[in-house]
Amino acid sequence: MRLRTKKNTRVGLESQPDLIVLEPKKLKGRWRELFGNDRPIHIEIGMGKGQFISRWSANNPDVNYLGMDMYDELLLIGSEKARKLWKEEKGSDEVPNLYLVRGNAEQLEEMFEDGELERIYLNFSDPWPKSKHAKRRLTHPRFLEKYKRALNEKGEIHFKTDSLSLFEFSLNSFSDSRLQMRNISLHLHRNELRDDLVMTEYETKFVGQGMPIYRLEAVVGSEVVREHRERVEAEVQASIARAAKRAADGREDAD
Ligand SMILES: C[S@@+](CC[C@H](N)C(=O)[O-])C[C@H]1O[C@@H](n2cnc3c(N)ncnc32)[C@H](O)[C@@H]1O
Repeated sequence: MRLRTKKNTRVGLESQPDLIVLEPKKLKGRWRELFGNDRPIHIEIGMGKGQFISRWSANNPDVNYLGMDMYDELLLIGSEKARKLWKEEKGSDEVPNLYLVRGNAEQLEEMFEDGELERIYLNFSDPWPKSKHAKRRLTHPRFLEKYKRALNEKGEIHFKTDSLSLFEFSLNSFSDSRLQMRNISLHLHRNELRDDLVMTEYETKFVGQGMPIYRLEAVVGSEVVREHRERVEAEVQASIARAAKRAADGREDAD
């Protein structure tokens, strides 16, 4: 096994300013400047080794991606994965729409201006099973308030986990924070692997063991909330109209 010293890890990170952000607070309000365009910014908080965020960055060149984690070694592994993927699939030495960020979600307000982000991914966040640690869960209402501030009018949170207890906690938490949820799934890959969604390292492992994956999306921004409500209302009206037609057809048959 390859072992890296802390110093080597630090040097490895510092040598990649085109992919690694070590002082995200300095970029508060200036992330678009860093990417050099106005495309929406999606972040994975707690990216681990970065498989998910690298894959999304290669799949969607029209979105800017950030992968955040607290640990240097994970950032370094993530940078290697991202570069390898872009080299193999795109023939590119650059990773133009992704930065890997050393940061802690606790300090989100210090890194992002209000409305600077458009989507937050929380994938297989640490479950912190003891109730005395509930406040550390990344879906605790105190974190949801931070996310609400950082997200723009199209803002969404996409959350998936293998932990039933964290999912139950999170459903209550999203609801207490008055966030509208949609596309809730208690077994994401029940019938077949969802290839419209990208798998994380943890997900690949748990799905391989046959475990169910729980997932939800929360709509946060005013625009996306309005669109969601209009869609639901249209479905309700269509369903009422279908029922009325069935009733009328039944009456005609009886006449
Ligand atoms: C269980 S791992 C999941 C990694 C990856 N998302 C996946 O699904 O494979 C959780 C990750 O979240 C990171 N993490 C935990 N709390 C965090 C926080 N407050 N801010 C940023 N990252 C955090 C951990 O360092 C760890 O890498």
